[in-house]
Amino acid sequence: MRVLGIETSCDETGVAIYDTEQGLLADALYSQIDLHRVYGGVVPELASRDHIRKLTPLIQQVLDASNTTKQQLDGIAYTEGPGLIGALLVGVATGRALAWTLGIPAVGVHHMEGHLLAPMLEDNPPQFPFLALLVSGGHTQLIAVESIGHYQLLGESIDDAAGEAFDKTAKMLGLDYPGGPVISKLAQQGRPDIYRFPRPMTNRPGLDFSFSGLKTFALNTWQKAEFKNEQSKADIARAFQDAVVDTLLIKCKRALKQSGLKRLVVAGGVSANAALRTELNRLNQQGIEVFYPRLEFCTDNGAMIAYAGAIHLQRGQQQSLSFGARPRWPLASD
Ligand code: KG4
Ligand code: ZN
Repeated sequence: MRVLGIETSCDETGVAIYDTEQGLLADALYSQIDLHRVYGGVVPELASRDHIRKLTPLIQQVLDASNTTKQQLDGIAYTEGPGLIGALLVGVATGRALAWTLGIPAVGVHHMEGHLLAPMLEDNPPQFPFLALLVSGGHTQLIAVESIGHYQLLGESIDDAAGEAFDKTAKMLGLDYPGGPVISKLAQQGRPDIYRFPRPMTNRPGLDFSFSGLKTFALNTWQKAEFKNEQSKADIARAFQDAVVDTLLIKCKRALKQSGLKRLVVAGGVSANAALRTELNRLNQQGIEVFYPRLEFCTDNGAMIAYAGAIHLQRGQQQSLSFGARPRWPLASD
């Protein structure tokens, strides 16, 4: 079964073709980061308009790259939510319309299920069951994954998501959008133990997260800093990143212990973070296998949607001709 996947939930237009026999055949991504950078964050209406401009040429690009004609497609998968409603509707309407003209099934995919299954595209995919740490710009979640479609939410962010905390902290320090990669790079120059940030909600039981206080802590630290130079900024970036990484590590350990699971999947934009990977990889010593998507599939992409969609379509799941998009959509729901 050959499936076209479409991702337009935020500021990346991602398209891919996944074949259930041959694997990933082609993928293409257009990032709108340059468009939004001047505003310091994503401007929803600009995002929608840019998806309209880029989606059709990208679809043609992956068809050409995989020597696939539209008639050879067996199904279409698109991100149905959660995300920005206008941006989502571009992918949903395009995917649905294409499926209708070709007379093939189409299926809406949950964006976070796409992230969660992205490591399945790697050579050594995780076996079920596993614990998933999903860390993106919009979500921080710990999920017990029994099998595809069986997801139990163990804990999540009660305010800013981990990626959002990176983005907001970067903004406060006068750094570029998106803040994750920028802070991560700057933190390499930062000295450890110059500043110590709190590890929110780690000294009480539970698996929820709260990262919103860290940006305020970063701002106060910057305002009080004796020298307002690049080195102090790097030291703050380092302390901030250490706090986020440490907090995620503590909660992963707790969730692994509570659930008895021995495999950990880490996915979503923040899973590209090198410091996070180094710390989580240490869990190997405790008999925990840790899995990530390749770097380009940590952030939003079409390949994860094509894969998740192919699995659903293979099981006979498809949607009726009427369609919608969901700006909010809990993963552990129907
Ligand atoms: O998964 P994603 O592409 O989009 C959402 O579904 O939200 O994640 C984007 C988020 C942004 O907040 C970005 O700053 C963060 O992932 N991010 C990183 C890194 N690369 C991207 N955060 C920390 N370190 C990175 N290397
Ligand atoms: Zn995402």
